[in-house]
Amino acid sequence: TSPSGGPPVLVLVGPPGSGKSTVGRILAARYGVPFRDTDADVEARAGKPIPDIFVDEGEPHFRALEHEAVAEALAGHHGVLALGGGAVLDPATRRLLAAHRVVFLDVGVHDAVRRVGLDAPRPLLVGNPRARWRELMEQRRPLYTEVARAVVLTDDRTPDQVADAVHEHF
Ligand code: S3P
Repeated sequence: TSPSGGPPVLVLVGPPGSGKSTVGRILAARYGVPFRDTDADVEARAGKPIPDIFVDEGEPHFRALEHEAVAEALAGHHGVLALGGGAVLDPATRRLLAAHRVVFLDVGVHDAVRRVGLDAPRPLLVGNPRARWRELMEQRRPLYTEVARAVVLTDDRTPDQVADAVHEHF
């Protein structure tokens, strides 16, 4: 159960390529609880993929949808929740997270870019993914740290090893 007495059990934050969705699914399966991903919730709300939301409506609109999705998931989802990498940019979202068991999955640029290269496109990494990723992380590291109760390093670890490390914190 979460410390607030309500949902969710565990919230994962971190930059693209930190493994939030992969590790979140593993933890949810181990705990026998549902897994939810706010990127998927935003896509469902918008009725289109994230890159299309960025192109058609722009990042501010995406962030507004994301805040609504996070607020709804934090209020109503009992399980493991993975947030989009930029969700912590929103101060209102950070305030909501204060009541929850939040883990920051930390990662260096090398592993992160390798992992996102295998996955869905991220509009904010287009062009020079390494440089863009570094900029994002520089801006956000303090925010991930602010909202997290625990930090787990994911470099050179398999998703199962990261899940073990997250579990050991609680
Ligand atoms: C974003 C990260 C993505 C997705 C969107 C914006 C970001 O989620 O929400 O492309 O601002 O870092 P992941 O962290 O799951 O890649």
